[in-house]
Amino acid sequence: MPNNRQLKLVNRPTGLVTPDVLQLSESPVPAVADGQALARVKYLSIDPTMRIWMADIPQYMPPVQLGEVMRSFGVAEIIESRHPDYKKGDKVSGLTGLQEYVLITGEEKRSFQKLPSIPFLSDTNFLNLLGINGLTAYFGLLEIGKPQSGETLVVSAAAGATGSIVGQLGKIQGCRVVGIAGSDDKCKWIKDDLGFDAAINYKHPNWKDQLAAATPKGIDIDFENVGGEVMQAVLDRMNLHGRVVLCGLISGYTKQDPGLASFGQVLIKRLRVEGFIILDYVSRFMEAGQKLGMWKMTGKLKTQETIVKGLEKAPEAINMLFRGENTGKLIVEL
Ligand SMILES: NC(=O)c1ccc[n+]([C@@H]2O[C@H](COP(=O)([O-])OP(=O)(O)OC[C@H]3O[C@@H](n4cnc5c(N)ncnc54)[C@H](OP(=O)(O)O)[C@@H]3O)[C@@H](O)[C@H]2O)c1
Repeated sequence: MPNNRQLKLVNRPTGLVTPDVLQLSESPVPAVADGQALARVKYLSIDPTMRIWMADIPQYMPPVQLGEVMRSFGVAEIIESRHPDYKKGDKVSGLTGLQEYVLITGEEKRSFQKLPSIPFLSDTNFLNLLGINGLTAYFGLLEIGKPQSGETLVVSAAAGATGSIVGQLGKIQGCRVVGIAGSDDKCKWIKDDLGFDAAINYKHPNWKDQLAAATPKGIDIDFENVGGEVMQAVLDRMNLHGRVVLCGLISGYTKQDPGLASFGQVLIKRLRVEGFIILDYVSRFMEAGQKLGMWKMTGKLKTQETIVKGLEKAPEAINMLFRGENTGKLIVEL
């Protein structure tokens, strides 16, 4: 049995993930005791929240401690089992961590889901459409955004894993959907392939005018993934009693949160702003999974992945999220 290569958090980052933050180390693959199973990790989900988990700040899960294997979601295949629920060859998804092998003990079992074998779903779909991103898009938009047919929905980080699904769900609900993304190629993808009504590249000098032109009736729902200047421009165009689905504020994860120039829009427009964490909806994941799977099967939801190969590339992959170097879901393949 080869050693288990792992990326451990050894220093807390102050900005992007510098080479001194995650240390590659090796340890023997653990022996499997009664009630345990050993899985080989195949795919790692690279998520902006990993940067939050690295920081020693109040958050929705305990921060990763120095010396611990860096937390991440992943898909793994059981290679040895002494647990009644798992057999060799089963695939699971859950908090694998940035490592090549994960020991599933009795305790951790609850956080690993066995993947069903469904012909039109790939292993990586369980990190994306049927993982954190699809579920976040589904509950954030439908439960908090409460979209009505004919309303205007704007989503930021629109060509990312979550935003790209939010926009397509908005179309299914009959909304006018406008995406904000960081390159012309991304804008072309969400408009031409995913069916968004308009796409705005926020790096163009006149993007705010373009946003105004694309939202002639104002904005009813802001699915907010970015914060800062992008959020401010959207808030300025919100309609009375609009809803702001506060999903993420990625522009503030690696540097000081830029904040909002005029938070007063919330008051003036009587907006409903609601933050949420997808874990709030765990008890309803099955319901969402069935709907998302059906839409995928019938061609109403499309996904794209940016794949990076090799565990040692994971630290730089995390930075790719903050540089906008991914389209759709960012995954590290082992
Ligand atoms: N609340 C929850 O439970 C929950 C769950 C999952 C994700 N989230 C949040 O949802 C957001 C998207 O996450 P994701 O996993 O789907 O990642 P993602 O959108 O696939 O990747 C992040 C994207 O954010 C954009 N971005 C990065 N820095 C930016 C900046 N300073 N200004 C504008 N855009 C920037 C980049 O695209 P561009 O090229 O367009 O700049 C990048 O591709 C994040 O804020 C994340 O924290 C929340």
